[in-house]
Amino acid sequence: MKRVSLTQYLVEQQREHGRIPAELRLLIEVVARACKRIAIAVNKGALGDVLGSAGTDNVQGEVQKKLDIISNEVLIEANIWGGHLAAMASEEMDSIHVVPDRYPQGEYLLLFDPLDGSSNIDVNVSIGTIFSVLRKVGHTRGVSEEDFLQPGKHQAAAGYCVYGPQSTLVLTLGNGVAVFTLDRETGSWYLTQEGLRIPDDTQEFSVNMSNLRHWAPPVTRYIDECLAGRDGARGKDFNMRWVGSMVADVHRILTRGGVFLYPWDKREPDKPGKLRLMYEANPMAFLVEQAGGLATNGRERILDVQPAKLHERVSVVLGSKNEVERATRYHAEAG
Ligand code: AHG
Repeated sequence: MKRVSLTQYLVEQQREHGRIPAELRLLIEVVARACKRIAIAVNKGALGDVLGSAGTDNVQGEVQKKLDIISNEVLIEANIWGGHLAAMASEEMDSIHVVPDRYPQGEYLLLFDPLDGSSNIDVNVSIGTIFSVLRKVGHTRGVSEEDFLQPGKHQAAAGYCVYGPQSTLVLTLGNGVAVFTLDRETGSWYLTQEGLRIPDDTQEFSVNMSNLRHWAPPVTRYIDECLAGRDGARGKDFNMRWVGSMVADVHRILTRGGVFLYPWDKREPDKPGKLRLMYEANPMAFLVEQAGGLATNGRERILDVQPAKLHERVSVVLGSKNEVERATRYHAEAG
């Protein structure tokens, strides 16, 4: 069987379909190369001295793992000199990282969660890198945090790499979702699936049930009905899966359907949710919509949310269309 590499796929997207400019093609290739380096570090585990805490906190006040910092550095080093970017923003950095004057500056802005699911690193459970690409609006040389504050619907590309039994890169350029698998022997990413579709209906939900008593009534209503199974309002049984790495949970949903929730909870009433809009929710919402699913914050489409700050948080309900519509309707009915 003739295999299509990521490079060939991107060249064809650029040349034959005119879908992506050369700079964006380069950007995706560089990110994929960085993810390969992260995959190698993850695979080494204890042998590479990459496990455990780094002894520092990030801007969110979360303890950073060594691999969080390594992955962040790999992504910056790989992307800084190519001339395709104006600046980068990361869940692990307080403020944006502007491309220094000694390098040419491109028009793209790259945002990433360098290693999503940090609590799973040391226990050898799937983790991943999530990324989002925006275009800098305006042609002035300077770049500031304001340039990043665009709703997710303006993303030029988004994707993630999940480091699990296989390393898998899932990508959208705004024309569907394609999946690439890393061949560890050749070191190349190969196209293994195209045109992913999330089924409209599902009997599988994904939520951290230990937080149930803290949720708002529409979320409790939705989950209670799932739990009641065929004896309740839904008239069918549901299964539950929660990996604790958004990349792994969303990958399952893109593969076989399901609904993922990380809702607001009353322990931190001033925060809209735990997950980050710019590094997690936006790229995942873009992928999910491109695969025929939906993503909302319970009230509004995630991709329409206008961010007010870089590290903004958001409630998330995403996945199979009919389930997301139902959960969103329960929010509307609650007023
Ligand atoms: P982080 O990026 O800090 O590793 O956070 C992981 C996120 C997300 O990947 C996952 O869905 C969620 O946090 C898990 O949260 P709980 O530990 O509350 O279940």
